Amino acid sequence: MQRILVLLAHPAFEHSRSQSYLADAVRSLEGVKVHDLYHHYPDFMVDVMREQGLLMEHDVIVFQHPFYWYSIPALLKEWMDLVLEHGLGYGSTAVTLKGKYLMNALSAGGSRSSYQAGGLNRFTIKQLLAPFEQTANLCGMHYLEPFVVYEADSLSEKQLAQYAEQYRNSLLALQRGDTWS
Ligand SMILES: Cc1cc2nc3c(=O)[nH]c(=O)nc-3n(C[C@H](O)[C@H](O)[C@H](O)COP(=O)(O)O)c2cc1C
Repeated sequence: MQRILVLLAHPAFEHSRSQSYLADAVRSLEGVKVHDLYHHYPDFMVDVMREQGLLMEHDVIVFQHPFYWYSIPALLKEWMDLVLEHGLGYGSTAVTLKGKYLMNALSAGGSRSSYQAGGLNRFTIKQLLAPFEQTANLCGMHYLEPFVVYEADSLSEKQLAQYAEQYRNSLLALQRGDTWS
């Protein structure tokens, strides 16, 4: 069974709707660790050794976050800058992340149709996530199709529950090794 580490990054999780639905849907799954970065590091003082240890213990890394300015919240970027240091994430001696999987699981305020050429946001979310795809590539990881909740701010409870169920099923499939890219 593939071990999954969900790095949850939401600066105001107590006000979250979509991200809390997603987190609640997977937090009790055996073999899935939901690691709330803003809870552990409210002062941005990331414990690099601890985080690197967690990376080593897991096969699939999920960045779970709201889409902020077409990217990730600041603490997750800080985590990347500090934790994926030379020798661990990339470089000639990098072995730790090789062969593992990376996925973004995000919620966006914009609609699916706004994320396309000619739409308000002009690019697909997959295109906007190119820095993460290339980070995975540089680290020898496989980059998976992102899991996206669109129109996150206006979904009903029923729609949020449906997305949460899809997310849970996606992680269960990843656990079984049914990976896609
Ligand atoms: C600072 C900030 C930046 C945002 N940037 C984007 C964005 O670039 N694209 C988008 O679709 N939504 C954007 N949003 C909307 C959030 O992605 C959306 O409110 C969030 O995913 C909802 O999830 P939640 O209920 O868990 O907070 C932004 C929201 C904030 C507060």
